[in-house]
Amino acid sequence: MQITSEEFFKARREFIKLGAMASLAAINAKASELGLSGDDAFFTVLKSKAENETGRAITDFDDATSYVNFYEFSTNKAIAAKKANALDISGWSVEVGGLCERPMRLNYDDLLKFKLQKRIYRFRCVEAWSMVVPWVGFELARLLELVRPASEAKYVKFTTLYDPQKFPDQASSFGAIPYPYVEGLRLDEAMHPLTLLAVGMYDKPLLGANGAPVRLVVPWKYGFKSIKSISKIELIDKQPPTTWQTLAPDEYGFYANVNPDVAHPRWSQAKERMLGSFSRVNTLLFNGYDEVAPLYAGMDLRAFY
Ligand code: MTE
Repeated sequence: MQITSEEFFKARREFIKLGAMASLAAINAKASELGLSGDDAFFTVLKSKAENETGRAITDFDDATSYVNFYEFSTNKAIAAKKANALDISGWSVEVGGLCERPMRLNYDDLLKFKLQKRIYRFRCVEAWSMVVPWVGFELARLLELVRPASEAKYVKFTTLYDPQKFPDQASSFGAIPYPYVEGLRLDEAMHPLTLLAVGMYDKPLLGANGAPVRLVVPWKYGFKSIKSISKIELIDKQPPTTWQTLAPDEYGFYANVNPDVAHPRWSQAKERMLGSFSRVNTLLFNGYDEVAPLYAGMDLRAFY
């Protein structure tokens, strides 16, 4: 699942150089200044789209970046993508604190100092569509180890930046969603090596549409757990109420593990439509990431959905 070729590290250097800039326009300008153009600027290590361990073809960049859920901009996927791509991330920082020994505030450059890796993951939305994305990021565990969780810390709470100037629908009086968007994981889920903080995808810095500058990626859980544009990470002792669970507790649980046998009250979760295709494929328990099963040993997955 991890690609660590020499070429990738070359691409990573470019990525880091370019990623420190606020907007895609600035990145493109810099790329052409360097004599790079379009996709040549960040070549892809994969020779064929299907050549990866997910057993499925990588989703087209255009599909993964235009068919998005980002309710702070719009409930319409294409409109949300367009608006979110104008997100200004200059001056962004992520506060990491709560029950830990070394709370810290990281700016964007600090995030890029972690050992970035490329991880190709299946991604399954609770709405029954899915995609395969080559993320660029680092294991959340690395950050948590740095801040040193206290022994009372049992959960990790994540919060999207609250700033209606930047995220216009946070202030919409028509919206039923209580903002800021909040998500959470049990500490052992957060420490699992599959759990990523992503700063890029397709060898490029994350677009606003996909949660720039930093988002969570938890590939065995429904996509709503993978919170975008994070500004706060807190270690806490109790399970945090999360956005979708608060809105519709019968439909969206805290765990949200991908499970073909536990239907959403309004639709089956047995199959999924892969973006870019009309055919439906079988949904896999834990989205196929069987290595996480021990995290839930002895738990009734119907009760803890
Ligand atoms: N994070 C925030 N802050 N706001 C959102 O609306 N949508 C979630 C999740 N993270 C969402 C969010 C949902 S429902 C999904 S399926 C994924 O983001 C979608 O990620 P993508 O748009 O990059 O595919």
